[in-house]
Amino acid sequence: MSDRYPLELVVNGRRVRREVPSSQTLLEFVREDLRLTGTNLSCDTGDCGACTVLVDGQPYTACIVLALDVEGREVTTIEGLAARWQAQSGAAPPSLHPVQQGFLEEGGAQCGFCTAGMVMAAAGLLEANPAPTEAEIQAGLEGNLCRCTGYTKIIKAVEVAAQRMRGRPVH
Ligand code: FES
Ligand code: FES
Repeated sequence: MSDRYPLELVVNGRRVRREVPSSQTLLEFVREDLRLTGTNLSCDTGDCGACTVLVDGQPYTACIVLALDVEGREVTTIEGLAARWQAQSGAAPPSLHPVQQGFLEEGGAQCGFCTAGMVMAAAGLLEANPAPTEAEIQAGLEGNLCRCTGYTKIIKAVEVAAQRMRGRPVH
C-alpha cells in the first residue's frame, strides 16, 4: 500500500498540489519536491533555525513540521519573500524585502548559512511586531543560530528594516 497522501497548499503565491509521504517534512517538501533550495538544512532537529519559513506569516522551523500538517495553508520561503513584501506594500519589483535590504546594508551575513532562516524569522517577527525593541528582536531571533556574525549586525539590520517598513527615515 502506498504511503502517499494528497497535499494542497500555496507556496510563494502559487497553489501547489502533490502526493507526499506521511513522514515527509515541510523542509523536504520545499527543497526536494519544489526545488526551493534557499531554505537550508542544518541541524534537522529544530534547534538552529536555518530552515525557517513563514506559514501564514509566522516563522516555522520546517525541519520539524510535517508537510501534511500545513495542508491548505500559505507557505513563504526566502525565494518568495520579496514578492510577499511587494504585494503587502505596493513596492515595485525587483525591490527586496526590507529585512533583506537591511542585511545587505548592515553586513548581516558572513558565510550566509544561517541567513535565509534568520531573514525569514526577522520578517515574521516584524509582521507580528512592527516596532520591536532591541530586546524583542533578540528574543524573536533566539531560535536562530549564527556562528559568524556575533549577532550585532543582524540586530541592526532588523532595526533598520523595521524603521523602513514603518516609513521612517533610516540613519
Ligand atoms: S535545520 Fe531546522 S532548525 Fe536546524
Ligand atoms: S553568517 Fe555564517 S552562520 Fe550566520
